[in-house]
Amino acid sequence: MINQIAVIGAGAMGTGIAQVFASFGYETILYDLNQDSLVKSRNKLQDVFNMLVQKGKITDSEAKSSFSRIHFASSLAGVKNADLVIEAIIEKLEVKQSLFKELEGLVSESCILASNTSSLSVTSIASACNRPGRVIGLHFFNPVPLMKLVEIIPAVQTHTATIETCKKLVDGIMKYGVLAKDTPGFIVNKVARPFYSESFRIYEEGIADFATIDWALTEFGGFKMGPFTLTDFIGHDVNYTVTESVWTAFYFDPRYTPAFCQKKLVEAGYLGKKAGKGFYDYSENSQNPSPLQDENLGKSIFHRVHAMLVNEAADTIHRGICTLEDVETAMTKGVNYPKGLINWGEELGYDYIVELLDGLYDYYHEARYRVSPYLRNKINS
Ligand code: NAI
Repeated sequence: MINQIAVIGAGAMGTGIAQVFASFGYETILYDLNQDSLVKSRNKLQDVFNMLVQKGKITDSEAKSSFSRIHFASSLAGVKNADLVIEAIIEKLEVKQSLFKELEGLVSESCILASNTSSLSVTSIASACNRPGRVIGLHFFNPVPLMKLVEIIPAVQTHTATIETCKKLVDGIMKYGVLAKDTPGFIVNKVARPFYSESFRIYEEGIADFATIDWALTEFGGFKMGPFTLTDFIGHDVNYTVTESVWTAFYFDPRYTPAFCQKKLVEAGYLGKKAGKGFYDYSENSQNPSPLQDENLGKSIFHRVHAMLVNEAADTIHRGICTLEDVETAMTKGVNYPKGLINWGEELGYDYIVELLDGLYDYYHEARYRVSPYLRNKINS
């Protein structure tokens, strides 16, 4: 039974996680080794609850009681009575391992230790612990209060009871919990790769400029933002790092190869919106390219990127990383795709997708375009 939750790391993610649990009635301890982060987090939480009251989303007394459930700890020992600790600190394996070791000396034997890592191996984090069966990945999405998905990632060592408790917990905070095998990128960060990388490839090959590719994917795919606008928004440093880490961790599988056009932006410091420049220019009076609204070209771009996404989703099922249902939930709730990819693939026709990918494979002779056996079996069955 989980009554008290401790969150370690009061940055963007930790603050959001604490807000959600406190709002759902959990006594929540928030700890950060940096006092400034803790103060900023406290101010941010106070502002958020005030804003929710102003917008009429919660009452003043709900805001007060939620905020009063968050206790700001200035020492790690403050987490000792927690039933679940969620770590959201810096993304470095050795630092996380050393924190988990220290936590084991403080908390009860039944306390679950979860990591919000987005790219590290949960199994490696668990391996630092004496009781690795209680370690699990709970991957929230940013901004936590708004994003409805949590990827639940058991390590190889995780006990079934730990998984069951976490599933119930995630249900209880009204989020969709999906179960992912401990593989690089888990579900969302793996399946979403082609949205960026295939679009970058189309751009690098001069098939279309970035404004046209963005237009194609929003106009014909119904995505809220095109890949160039979206990566400008996410930050190229962040997005490139995820791509590079998935590619490296999958033993340099060419399906995940990063793009030079993005690497150069990172090297130049053109990190996107936050830097005033990425693919697009965000300075005052800037002149950005307008899309070439050619319907045939637009549709062919959408179909190519879409086929790569469906193939990636299919392969995630084929490799047993998650179920069909969970990959659909993950992409619609974790990155707001307009439709689940497998259903969407069926709608456009698996035979059409396989033919398109086989055509790319024949043309490029690259393993990047290999069709997942999942799709091949579908059209042969
Ligand atoms: P952040 O940089 O905003 O916050 C990290 C906080 O952890 C800082 O306040 C820092 O002072 C604190 N910290 C660092 N080392 C610590 C330690 N040893 N003990 C206690 N506190 C420590 O980072 P952010 O974005 O909140 O990410 C945190 C974790 O969540 C990372 O593992 C990241 O990969 C993961 N994540 C991030 C997402 C995002 O979109 N930002 C999405 C999903 C997961």
